[in-house]
Parts: sequence; C-alpha cells; structure tokens
Amino acid sequence: MKNKIKVSVVGGTGYTGVELLRLLSQHPYVEIHHITSRGDEGKLVADIYPSMRGIISNQFINPDKADLKNSDLVFFATPNGIAMNYAKNLLSEGVKIIDLAADFRIKDVAVWEKWYGMAHTSKDLLGEAVYGLPEINREKIKKARLVANPGCYPTAIQLGLLPLIKNNLINKNNIIADAKSGISGAGKKLEPSFLMAEASESFKAYGIEGHRHLPEMEENLSACANGERVKLTFVPHLLPMVRGIHATLYVDATEEFDLSALYENFYSKEPFVDIMPESTCPDTKSVRASNICRIAPHKEIGTSRIIILSVIDNLMKGAAGQAVQNMNIMMGFEEVAGLVLGPITP
Ligand SMILES: NC(=O)c1ccc[n+]([C@@H]2O[C@H](COP(=O)([O-])OP(=O)(O)OC[C@H]3O[C@@H](n4cnc5c(N)ncnc54)[C@H](OP(=O)(O)O)[C@@H]3O)[C@@H](O)[C@H]2O)c1
Repeated sequence: MKNKIKVSVVGGTGYTGVELLRLLSQHPYVEIHHITSRGDEGKLVADIYPSMRGIISNQFINPDKADLKNSDLVFFATPNGIAMNYAKNLLSEGVKIIDLAADFRIKDVAVWEKWYGMAHTSKDLLGEAVYGLPEINREKIKKARLVANPGCYPTAIQLGLLPLIKNNLINKNNIIADAKSGISGAGKKLEPSFLMAEASESFKAYGIEGHRHLPEMEENLSACANGERVKLTFVPHLLPMVRGIHATLYVDATEEFDLSALYENFYSKEPFVDIMPESTCPDTKSVRASNICRIAPHKEIGTSRIIILSVIDNLMKGAAGQAVQNMNIMMGFEEVAGLVLGPITP
C-alpha cells in the first residue's frame, strides 16, 4: 500500500479545476491538500459545486494564503501567466508542478511572448519543463519536476498526426487541422458569445487569423519530425455542446503503406488511445468524461489523401485527465490510477 501524496489545485473553481477535483477525490494515492480561489475564498467547494457534496469537504482558500510549499504536487488550473510566477519558489521547496495553462508549453520564449502578449517571468525554467504528452514524452515525464500539460486541441490533433509525422510518411507543409470544440473549452467565464441563446443551435469558426495552439503544435510536431518544419493550417470551431473535441485532419501521403496497421502498432501499448476499426467515425459522446482519445484513420479512394478523425473530451484527455495521467507518471503510480472511467452515454 502506497502512502498518499498531498496534492493542491490552484484555480479550483474553473471547469478544469472541478474536473481535477472529481478525479483526485477518488484517486487511490492522493489526499487533496488545498483548493484555491480568490473570488470564492472561504466558501465550501460543495457550495459552489453541489456535485462535490459528500465527496470534498474543503473550503476554497486564497492562493496567497495556501501552504502550497507543503504539497507534494500542485496543479495550476489557472489562466495563462499565473503558474510561471509560482514555479521557481515551489520547485525550490521540492514541490512538483503540472501547469494546465500554456506557460511552459513553448520552448521559444520570443514565440511565446508574441502569442501570449506578456513577458515570461520564468524563462530559465522553459528548458527543463517537459511537454506532458505521455505518448511521446513518457520517459522525460517520469523524471520531470515541471510538466506543461498540452492544450486541448493540440492533444486531439497531435495524437492524430504523430504516427504519420514520426514515420515521415506525409507532406509536412500541407496539413489541415479542422477542429471543433464544445463550449467548456473556453472556461467558466461570462461572455456574450458563450450565452446559451448565442451559442446553442449555431456553429461557427474562430481564430482563423491565428490561434495560440498553432505555435504549440508546430513546435512540438517539428521536434517529432527531427526538426523538419511542420506547417499546419488550423481552423478551430465552437460547437453548441458542453464537452468534446472533434478534429478532422487532412494530409497527403508521400508513399504507400498500411494505414490501419501503422496506427494500431504505434499506439498498441497506449492505455488511453483507441484506434477504431476501418471505415468508422468516432463521435465525441464515445469519449465523454473519459481520458480516452479515439482515432479513426481513413484513406480517400484514388488519391494520396489521408483523413484522420480524432476525438477527446477537452476537460479529460484535453486537460484534467491528461494532467492526472502525468501526475501518475511523475510519481511512479500506475499510469491509469484514478482514470479507469468509462465514458458517459447517452
Ligand atoms: N477548459 C478547457 O477545456 C481547457 C482545456 C485545456 C487547457 N485549459 C487551460 O486550463 C486553464 C484553466 O482553464 P479553465 O477552463 O478551467 O478556466 P476557468 O474556468 O476560467 O477557471 C480559471 C480558474 O483560475 C482561477 N484564477 C484566475 N485568475 C487567477 C489568478 N490570477 N491567480 C490564481 N487563480 C486564478 C479562477 O478562480 P479565482 O479567480 O476565483 O481565483 C478559476 O478557478 C487555462 O489556462 C486553460 O487555457 C482549459
């Protein structure tokens, strides 16, 4: 029997925060230490999230009053630009960090500062931060003190492309990632475009001129292509549903190969990637509230075009589930601990 570790969540009132609480509250090797909120400081978690009644008895505490340095690991489920201000002090106290935001996802600081519109306050930690996509970085994550949890779109899209990129089988200058996300991807904020009357029964693209997940994907996929530049056309869309991401990826093959066998072999040992049978189309509901990414590779008849369909739950494999998977790897727990959850259907 393992000793439980003390884990804190900074940003416990957000959607990824409460998803972390759902997972951590039933994790066999975790004791929840602090859960922070500035706006709801002093309130019971269960008063803000009745789903946590009888499950979590903590009150929200202001992050500046929380004794984070006595946690073993801290999750930052906060907006961009927060974790970078805490990281140095916590790491120096021996606390491990998983940031669900983008502070440590991009190695090139000039690129990060351009896309995120602020100065990076922990540039010296960018080198050691590990990009937390276990399917490519498991060995590095095992030794990491600081993990940058990937973005939600980048998880669905990169898992869909990796077998082709890693095996140098496609034109890397001509990849189209057409992706759609449920509205919880935007977090718990009051904005007119996210009101039910605006977003329901409607469907639209956004961020065509450039989305922050683009440089994250291009940097990481280029590293996976031995430094050869990978160029994506990425068009995100907002879907009138709460959870889920569906990515449709269009690429051109540069040679003939067995597409299904490639994907099945590449992901054969991965606990959270499911390669679908030929000619199938996964739906977002098939992964809802689970940490699974389902991928269906397709070949267009008579051309070199390959179409990959990849679905995840943005709050799970796209955020909190993947963060717990990374914690399990960092702490030497079974990788699936606390994550063996069947999808919710209907
Ligand atoms: N939603 C998704 O599907 C998704 C997927 C992947 C990654 N992410 C990333 O994960 C992070 C959290 O996303 P979310 O959707 O959960 O956001 P959210 O719903 O907007 O919640 C943000 C949380 O951060 C806290 N917070 C805000 N400013 C803070 C500050 N200056 N210091 C400390 N805490 C602060 C908020 O509580 P108080 O203001 O009360 O302190 C709140 O609990 C974001 O960086 C997001 O990009 C989100």
